[in-house]
Amino acid sequence: MSHNQHPLVVIPGDGIGPEVTDAALRVLEAADAPLAPEEHHAGLAAIDEVGEVLPDSTLNAIRNRGLALKGPCTTPVGKGFRSVNVQLRQKLELYAAIRPVRSLDGVKTRYGGVDLVVFRENTEGLYAGVENNIIPGVVTTMKVVTEKASMRIARAAFAYAKARNRKKVTVFHKANIMKVSDGLFLERVDKVHTEEFPEVPYETMIIDAGCMRLVQDPTNFDVLLMENFYGDIVSDLTAGLVGGLGVTPGANIGQDAAIFEAVHGSAPDIAGQNKANPLALIMSSVMLLNHLHETRGDTNAKASAERIKSAYNAALAEGDKTADLGGALSTSAFTDALIKRV
Ligand code: NAI
Repeated sequence: MSHNQHPLVVIPGDGIGPEVTDAALRVLEAADAPLAPEEHHAGLAAIDEVGEVLPDSTLNAIRNRGLALKGPCTTPVGKGFRSVNVQLRQKLELYAAIRPVRSLDGVKTRYGGVDLVVFRENTEGLYAGVENNIIPGVVTTMKVVTEKASMRIARAAFAYAKARNRKKVTVFHKANIMKVSDGLFLERVDKVHTEEFPEVPYETMIIDAGCMRLVQDPTNFDVLLMENFYGDIVSDLTAGLVGGLGVTPGANIGQDAAIFEAVHGSAPDIAGQNKANPLALIMSSVMLLNHLHETRGDTNAKASAERIKSAYNAALAEGDKTADLGGALSTSAFTDALIKRV
């Protein structure tokens, strides 16, 4: 790699994380990506090392570098640990989860021509971590909605739609029931639209009806904007429209840092078997390179992104696929097939 290199924190993660991260790094290197990776740990891997899921050293490395590629992390349930992902997103104020969901040639699904982008508020809502035992047998989880977070995710979604000439932004909500919390979210999104982006086509939809319409015909939608919990679920739903979790990448973007990771988790059922599809993390790496081009003007990053994208499009179209997509290739064989084309 001969260009200016951007330091990149790499968190391999747990379960299939190390396998898919290794694949992504191999592809990035083959595409001459201008990156200098340095490994840090989180999740189970960090508990083994230092007894906590998110060591300060990992958090500080991302703060300093501003850029990370992350494999999925497992947070042990019922042992008192807070989710690694929720902590990272809250502590680094990575307020926008951006998850593109697109049909791919060679991946057979119910619908063609799907082209969606989910914008999920990433720092509050039901994931704020405010849970209480009121009396034995009665618990509450608080849904936190603030003007500030609602407006910044709205701005991110409308600005994205405007810059890329997307056909509309649809907001999913449940303000008919949660009148105060979802009511505030919806009202602030409306305000940002009216005052700052009136030219972007915009509609609102109650989330249950929206989900029904999404699975009836996803081509009627484009950019989808919603709070944290709805975004978590709708991301997996939309992944299912284009071939599943093996092909849906994601970015967690804040003012000072960005973490790129697949939508999927650590998939313990197939971990360590060389079966996982590494494409979602490889696509996330392409998003990372495009982000470097957009925010730091690095044209070499853009060129590497184009090479990787062409390689996976060609591989899929020619039938080189992992088992989740109906193919016969292992994680490493699929990675080799991409590298050959890069
Ligand atoms: P999951 O996404 O790990 O798995 C769901 C299903 O999809 C499984 O059948 C799995 O084999 C399959 N799958 C997922 N990724 C795949 C890939 N790349 N290739 C082929 N098949 C794939 O979700 P699950 O089982 O709910 O969660 C497992 C663990 O992952 C949990 O501990 C959860 O907390 C964690 N998790 C972490 C995330 C992150 O670090 N960003 C996101 C989601 C879950």
